[in-house]
Amino acid sequence: MKVLVTGGLGFIGSHTVVELQNEGFEVVIIDDLSNSSLDVLGGIEEITGKKPVFQKLDLKIKQDVIDFFEKHKNLAGVIHFAANKAVGESVNNPLMYYENNIGTLVYMLQRLTKLKQQNFIFSSSCTVYGQAEELPITENAPVQSAESPYGNTKQVGEEIIRDTCKVNEKLNAIALRYFNPIGAHSTAQIGELPIGVPQNLVPYITQTAIGLREQLSVFGGDYPTPDGTCIRDYIHVVDLAKAHVVALKRLIENKNDSNYEIFNLGTGKGSSVLEVINSFEKVSGKKLNYKIVGRRDGDVIAAYAETSKANDVLGWKTELTLDDAMDSAWKWEQKIRG
Ligand code: UFG
Repeated sequence: MKVLVTGGLGFIGSHTVVELQNEGFEVVIIDDLSNSSLDVLGGIEEITGKKPVFQKLDLKIKQDVIDFFEKHKNLAGVIHFAANKAVGESVNNPLMYYENNIGTLVYMLQRLTKLKQQNFIFSSSCTVYGQAEELPITENAPVQSAESPYGNTKQVGEEIIRDTCKVNEKLNAIALRYFNPIGAHSTAQIGELPIGVPQNLVPYITQTAIGLREQLSVFGGDYPTPDGTCIRDYIHVVDLAKAHVVALKRLIENKNDSNYEIFNLGTGKGSSVLEVINSFEKVSGKKLNYKIVGRRDGDVIAAYAETSKANDVLGWKTELTLDDAMDSAWKWEQKIRG
């Protein structure tokens, strides 16, 4: 069965391609290479023994999307990762985010809804919940007005899919709301490749430990949490990737309860910034140079997932720990700087 993975050379996309190939799917990747490298194809081949089909394609060019779908009418499903994801950049350049994340989603759905099989998996984010009133966060928690254009593209993206599903019975979609994806493949063949100064915690930790950054700033030590630092639900990217395969199979096998479903993807366990640092120090045997500084704008205090819907309905749960994730992230950092 042939599956299209957009953004398949990115962080979560590449790990998902590996899991799809491991399960026997034939994968076609499209990626515009704006935030990824062709070397990732080699990493995927090293792990799985198979090079996926790749086409460089910019989804903003509508005619190219049309031409692609003309050539690939027999897709069993589409997993749509291609999007920009930097919160700060989206604040400074909202139109780029609306074009890249929303415009391209519309083009994709326009073509997909002409195919025989219309199975669609969308990358959403726990950012849609903002600071939820109740923890852990269930899928029924209200969506709050977005803090950034990036966050808004995830909310609007979900609405576009929901509205399209309402009038198009043949379209089957699942939105997956990721908590904080971290880590790398255990083989260190693929991992996260942040461009420039990392905005996210784990790549900042590993880059500091390897000597690329002087010191990690821990944003805020006075939050109302047990150790004063923010709490997040850090999920190993390999567990997250596997959830995409499970979700896609659910659609292919017509096991979905409705043609638009939403699942949280997290571990269910919250970890503070200091706990993540401790985990890193434990698995790497290295002391991390860090300092607690002021809070970062827009950070919520605590977010972690209620996982029972994903566990019971989707039939998926995480298998890897925070230590596994930090260990793999560290091995990956050492490999790419080695
Ligand atoms: N942090 C630091 N120092 C850093 C980087 C991060 O202390 O250098 C802290 C943050 O303050 C936060 C935690 O580490 O408490 C995690 O921060 P990340 O930037 O790694 O992740 P976020 O929780 O901010 O990101 C999540 C989602 C994004 C989403 C964002 C919206 O992963 O997709 O929330 O705020 F856009």
